[in-house]
Amino acid sequence: MRTKIVVGNWKMNKTVEEGVGLTTAILELIGDGMADCEVGVAPPFTALDGVKRAIGRSGIRLVAQNCHHEDDGAYTGEVSVRMLDSLGCASVILGHSERRQLFGETSAVVNLKVKKALGAGLQAIMCVGETLDERERGVTEELVTGQVREGLDGVDDLENVVIAYEPVWAIGTGKTATPGQAQEVHASIRRTVRDIYGETVAGRLRIQYGGSVKPSNAAELFSMPDIDGGLIGGASLKAEDFAAIVRAACC
Ligand code: 13P
Repeated sequence: MRTKIVVGNWKMNKTVEEGVGLTTAILELIGDGMADCEVGVAPPFTALDGVKRAIGRSGIRLVAQNCHHEDDGAYTGEVSVRMLDSLGCASVILGHSERRQLFGETSAVVNLKVKKALGAGLQAIMCVGETLDERERGVTEELVTGQVREGLDGVDDLENVVIAYEPVWAIGTGKTATPGQAQEVHASIRRTVRDIYGETVAGRLRIQYGGSVKPSNAAELFSMPDIDGGLIGGASLKAEDFAAIVRAACC
């Protein structure tokens, strides 16, 4: 049985004060209702420290949205895994489609980041997903398989890896993949992982779905056999909605 994992990706939203307020409100709403699953919030870098304090001992995981693949050095504007670790981050989101599309991140770079994050003891949440054009051209499986293979190249141990399947056409559009569409790709990701790492590792790997998850569709998505939780964008910015999605995963 895989533990469900729900993470709120706040993207470039929330000041320190707003982030602390949101975290406090989430905690009030979910209380101790997350005993059976893993819950995380991914504020922007600037709010990580404040949110960490608000999280306290509640068990919510502090997640970063990105990192650089070098240890340190002349990389203006970048943040290293050691910096994230020192802030108390437990995980880092890597290869989000916004990073790939808007900031030119390739799977090769994502692979370097995954290895760096794992080396520092951070959980790597590696995002994959196709664009609408790719889906319409019928290359979804091929594309996603390629992203998984390249992103995990040279990674021996998946214990601390989570894959997030986020179809680009479903992100921030209000257009959610149907549970069937999402399940189909999740199953194919698990097959790819099974081909490389074998049955046991594939059976343990958590694969989250992301893309317009809302309180109204979360339970159905999370009930699919290969969907192990969600990576939540817009709905994670509202405490009530995020708490409802957490409840859908944890019950
Ligand atoms: P939305 O939930 O806003 O569609 O965003 C999904 C996402 O990109 C999470 O990383």
